[in-house]
Amino acid sequence: MAERQKVTLAHLYDKLRQGQPITMITCYDYPMADLVDKAGIDIILVGDSLGMAVLGFDSTLPVTQDMMMPLVQAVRRGSPHSWLIGDMPYMTYQPSVETAIRCAGRFMAEGACDAVKLEGGREIIDRAQAIVKSGIPVMGHLGLTPQSASALGGFKVQGKSAAQAKRIVDDAKALEEAGCYSVLLEMVPDRIAEIITQRATVPIIGIGSGPHVHGQVLIFHDMFGLNPKFKPKMVKVFANAGQVILDGLKQYAAEVTSRQFPQPDNWFTIKDEEINELKRMLGE
Ligand code: KIV
Repeated sequence: MAERQKVTLAHLYDKLRQGQPITMITCYDYPMADLVDKAGIDIILVGDSLGMAVLGFDSTLPVTQDMMMPLVQAVRRGSPHSWLIGDMPYMTYQPSVETAIRCAGRFMAEGACDAVKLEGGREIIDRAQAIVKSGIPVMGHLGLTPQSASALGGFKVQGKSAAQAKRIVDDAKALEEAGCYSVLLEMVPDRIAEIITQRATVPIIGIGSGPHVHGQVLIFHDMFGLNPKFKPKMVKVFANAGQVILDGLKQYAAEVTSRQFPQPDNWFTIKDEEINELKRMLGE
């Protein structure tokens, strides 16, 4: 089989032009990144969702860039071919243009990312634009923006009224005009996502935003049954790895308890003469 080519912006835009759906998934560690790479997924996002998916927080707000960096690096090692996005965590771009450029630059220089993502519309447009001007590709993120969940009234669908939807449509255009190479729409009604997609000249990637977008993203732990707290409506469980692992753990506990594990295949031996010599040395 031919070696997989590294995904580039040109590759993503080719897919857009040819009307081929773009595939994207979140990922947070080396072995899973290896599988994602082998599956040929176009884009990996090391999302700040790792705070909830991996670290067990109730929101993404406690996540820092220092927490994310080793995971970003592990994912890059596991997936040399996918387009890798570092998700800018809370308060790494809100305070100022300068903090935004520094944080984005760190994902590129230390994490070997291909791009960064930040949440928000026209209120963060100067930061998105400045990062783009620094030579770093930026993905925007509209709709439910979890870092602002408190202000948005919780983790719920955004853009259900015409006025709210108009804001999101205008924000998407503003992000595109600021130079964002792509925009992610989270939990936006399908027909609003369709309008945004029809007007866009950059790839629109959706999560819980219907079928009319240019590509889909899901959170890894949700789609493999590894989220112990809940299963969001927008998720399809593609394989229940959580159940497989739970069954394996129960079997392991049972086999250790009943002394069925380990078996000779699972341990290491020593020659009789060596053990006899040891016993002699120990005076046994
Ligand atoms: O942090 C994240 O994983 C996200 C998802 C909505 C894709 O932004």
